[in-house]
Amino acid sequence: MPSTVLITGGNGRTARQLIDTLLNHPDCPNLRVLVRPQGVETLKQAYPLLSSPPHSIVQADYMDETNLVPIFQNVSIVVHNGPSIHQNEAAMAISVIEAARKAGVGFFLLCSVLHPMRSKLVTHKLKLIIEEYLVESRISYCIVQPTHYMQNVSLGHVLRTGKIPLGYSELVEQGFVDLCDFAMVLRLIISDPMKHNRATYEIVGENKTYQEVATILQNAMGRDVQCEVINPPKYIAMLKEGNVIQNEYAEDAMERIIVYHNRWGLTGNSNVLRWLLNAEPRGWKKYAMDMLSDV
Ligand SMILES: NC(=O)c1ccc[n+]([C@@H]2O[C@H](COP(=O)([O-])OP(=O)(O)OC[C@H]3O[C@@H](n4cnc5c(N)ncnc54)[C@H](OP(=O)(O)O)[C@@H]3O)[C@@H](O)[C@H]2O)c1
Repeated sequence: MPSTVLITGGNGRTARQLIDTLLNHPDCPNLRVLVRPQGVETLKQAYPLLSSPPHSIVQADYMDETNLVPIFQNVSIVVHNGPSIHQNEAAMAISVIEAARKAGVGFFLLCSVLHPMRSKLVTHKLKLIIEEYLVESRISYCIVQPTHYMQNVSLGHVLRTGKIPLGYSELVEQGFVDLCDFAMVLRLIISDPMKHNRATYEIVGENKTYQEVATILQNAMGRDVQCEVINPPKYIAMLKEGNVIQNEYAEDAMERIIVYHNRWGLTGNSNVLRWLLNAEPRGWKKYAMDMLSDV
């Protein structure tokens, strides 16, 4: 195991799953978790272990490269996962990569997205810029490209209402990965980084339509479950209300996601994930059965 692993976006969903996975493993490296100043207390409360050595919580904004460099000193691996849908996402990642380079970080693990070449999606196009910058940074690296997390579907909501709210068709195949499987992959890479140097891994658990997901959840929950396809303007309005969409860039990016997923879906192949895990990825049936006791 490397000595110190710095995880960015500490209050984000991916980072939290990774922190859980690492802390719950006997061979946990020293964790340095980066959050914005306003996120420190939330993270401390969620993970009291991070407040004392050998772990630590550090504060900075991705855009503040000068402050990042001292924070990245003596770090063996940086794990970076950017914000969801942000106009400055590429600039933020480049600032983090530059700080890692200046601080002499040995390895950079980038969480990207499946098929960044799907350039009709602006969120994917930005990831391509970030991947290119990292590959040319001269830092040893690995890029992991997950498709949608199964955890995007709130099982609690489905159990209460019998509905899976969607902004696009329930009949188009989509790619899914269990966030726990994804965090396990990140842990495996962290435990032996140079084995994965210069690799790019597509991370897909299985492809299913939401109609099929609804049937699986219906059987697992023992209650009627239907997809609730909401028309795009109403769906966007709901996301604005929930503060998920905060500006016109995000609104445009989300509209493109809806149109894209209505036609193609973000599907892929699960061979790489199976090989990395050395086990069958968790599909919807197993995920639903395992998770329902926790809802
Ligand atoms: N959700 C999926 O199914 C999925 C699948 C594949 C790939 N992805 C990719 O994964 C990424 C999002 O992952 P996620 O769901 O873990 O995201 P998330 O929960 O939204 O977390 C993003 C984190 O970034 C932090 N952040 C934002 N701006 C920052 C700044 N200027 N300086 C420092 N920190 C900043 C946020 O901090 P605060 O907590 O302070 O706001 C937040 O904790 C996106 O790039 C997305 O494309 C997502």
